[in-house]
Amino acid sequence: MRPKWIAVAAGLLVFVTTAAIAQVATQTVPQLEGPMPAMETGAAAVLPKWVTDDQRKMRAYPDQPPIIPHSIDGYELSVNANRCLSCHKREFTQDSGAPMISVTHYMTREGQMIADVSPRRYFCTACHVPQADVQPLVPSTFKDMSELGFKPAGSE
Ligand code: HEC
Ligand code: HEC
Repeated sequence: MRPKWIAVAAGLLVFVTTAAIAQVATQTVPQLEGPMPAMETGAAAVLPKWVTDDQRKMRAYPDQPPIIPHSIDGYELSVNANRCLSCHKREFTQDSGAPMISVTHYMTREGQMIADVSPRRYFCTACHVPQADVQPLVPSTFKDMSELGFKPAGSE
């Protein structure tokens, strides 16, 4: 009789905890699917303004892909043409004044240096994105690693 009773109690406990978590989750997770009810037509939100002040932003950590500080509206980025490279490729940077794509963009997966941009770095916007002037949907608790008060190993 005893094992059965324990199984029922455990099942009940799992059910109650899951329900409790679901309750909290609906309160803290922001609503992403737009106004309710879902099938109705609502007013479209105002398009955000892109940040295009040409100020290169500090990276949040050393190997973060830097964000794009200029407009990229209408720049073709396809198999046939890459507008980004027409300014950011080594050969064109002197005239464009754009920072050169870094040395990692000329490396194959095995670390072999090549003359042209590596195919895995061709579609720039897979990693580099412009920023919009909007409030974050979820509050961020990110802390820069230099604020974490780390001490060099062996200093204590
Ligand atoms: C007309 C030339 C030109 C084109 C085209 C261009 N850029 Fe730029 N880019 C610049 C210049 C100049 C800067 C330096 C900051 C500034 O003046 O906006 C820059 C800055 C950047 C930076 C910031 C680098 C850093 O270290 O902070 C990124 C990332 C970037 N561009 C990505 C792109 C991508 C991706 C595209 C294509 C969608 C693109 N750029 C197209 C000229 C260009
Ligand atoms: C797979 C991700 C990825 C792709 C695709 C990519 N980048 Fe980057 N990019 C990075 C990362 C990560 C960094 C910073 C670390 C580094 O230099 O590797 C960076 C750095 C840069 C920088 C700053 C260089 C410097 O020395 O300050 C520029 C400019 C840049 N990328 C432009 C481009 C352009 C233009 C393209 C498209 C041709 C491109 N990137 C494609 C990940 C990527």
